[in-house]
Amino acid sequence: MHTIRAARAFTGKPRIAKVEGCYHGTYDAAEVSQNSNPGNWGEASAPASTSTSFGTPDGVKDDVVVLNMNDIQGSIAILENHKEHLAGVLLDVLPARMNFIPMKPEYIKAIQAWCVTNGALLIFDEVFSLRGGYRGMQGEYGVTPDLTATGKLVGGGFPIGVFGGRTDVMDVFNVLADGGAKVTHGGTHNAHPVSIAAGIASMKLWDQAAVTHINGLGKRVRQGIDAALRDAGIPGTTYGYGSMIGWFYTEDELHTYRDIHTAQHQKGVQGKLFKHWLNNGILAAARGGLILSTVMTEAEIDHLIEQTSEAFNAIQTSKS
Ligand SMILES: Cc1ncc(COP(=O)(O)O)c(C=O)c1O
Repeated sequence: MHTIRAARAFTGKPRIAKVEGCYHGTYDAAEVSQNSNPGNWGEASAPASTSTSFGTPDGVKDDVVVLNMNDIQGSIAILENHKEHLAGVLLDVLPARMNFIPMKPEYIKAIQAWCVTNGALLIFDEVFSLRGGYRGMQGEYGVTPDLTATGKLVGGGFPIGVFGGRTDVMDVFNVLADGGAKVTHGGTHNAHPVSIAAGIASMKLWDQAAVTHINGLGKRVRQGIDAALRDAGIPGTTYGYGSMIGWFYTEDELHTYRDIHTAQHQKGVQGKLFKHWLNNGILAAARGGLILSTVMTEAEIDHLIEQTSEAFNAIQTSKS
C-alpha cells in the first residue's frame, strides 16, 4: 500500500500495473485480478481488471492495469497504452500464489527498461520472496527496483511490513520537507517495539551462511519430490527457488496465471499428499507449497522425502 501511494505521489500519476494472479496483500488496488477466472478475465492480450473482494469500486479497478505474466510483447503494448497515467509497475518476481512458477529474467528486465524510459517506478513485492537470497530475489536477478515492500521473515514471526527504496522517492514521507509530507504514514502499530525487537534478532541470524543452508535444503526437497513423483509414475513438476517450493501435477510448461488455472492440478492427489504429510508432522500450504525454516536440518528433509514417497506410493497402490 505504501509503495503504491509513494509511486503515485512521486510521479503525480494515478495508475499502477500488476501481473494477473499475483497476490500483494489486501489493499484495494493491489488486490485487483488476483483470482480472475475464465468467465471474467477477458483476452490474454488485454487482461480485464477484476474484483477480488465483492464491492471493490469500479474507480479502483479502472486505475489498475493488468499484465499477462512473461508475455513481454503483450505487456509492453499494454503499458504503452497507459503510459501517460502510470505511476509504477508492481511485480512479485516469484509469485507464491502461483506455487512459485518463475517470472522470466528477460520479462523483468524488459519491464524495468520500460519503466526507466517512461518515468514509471518499478516496485518489487518481496514480502515472501526476500528469503530467496541474502539480498532478496532482486539480488538473485540482479535488478534493483525503485521501491521494495517486504515483511514476514524480517519480523521474526511477529506482524510486520517494511518498505523502502530510492531516497528521492522516499522523501514523499518526509514530514520535515517544505510543505510537509506528500504521503501520510500513520498507524497505531507502526514500528511496534515487539515486532522490531523480534525482527532485529531474526535479521542478526539471517546471514549468507543461513541462506546457503536453507537454499541447499530447498534444492534437496525439490529433487526429492521430483524423484518421488517419477518413481510413483505420477506426472508433475516442482518449482520455486531456495527455501520456497511449489509443484503442479502436470509436466506441461507453465508460464502464466492462465496456464496454472487451466492446468490439471489433480486435487485428489494433492489432498491425499497434504493429509499424509499432516499426519506425519509436516504442514504444507494445501494448494501445493512448502517453506523451510533456518532451524531445519538434513534430518527433517530426509523425513519429508520419505513421507512424500510413501504418500505417492500409497496413492498409486489404492488406484490399482
Ligand atoms: C507476495 C505477498 N505480498 C503481500 C503479502 C501481504 O502481506 P501482509 O499479510 O503482511 O499484508 C503477502 C502475504 O502473504 C505476500 O505473500
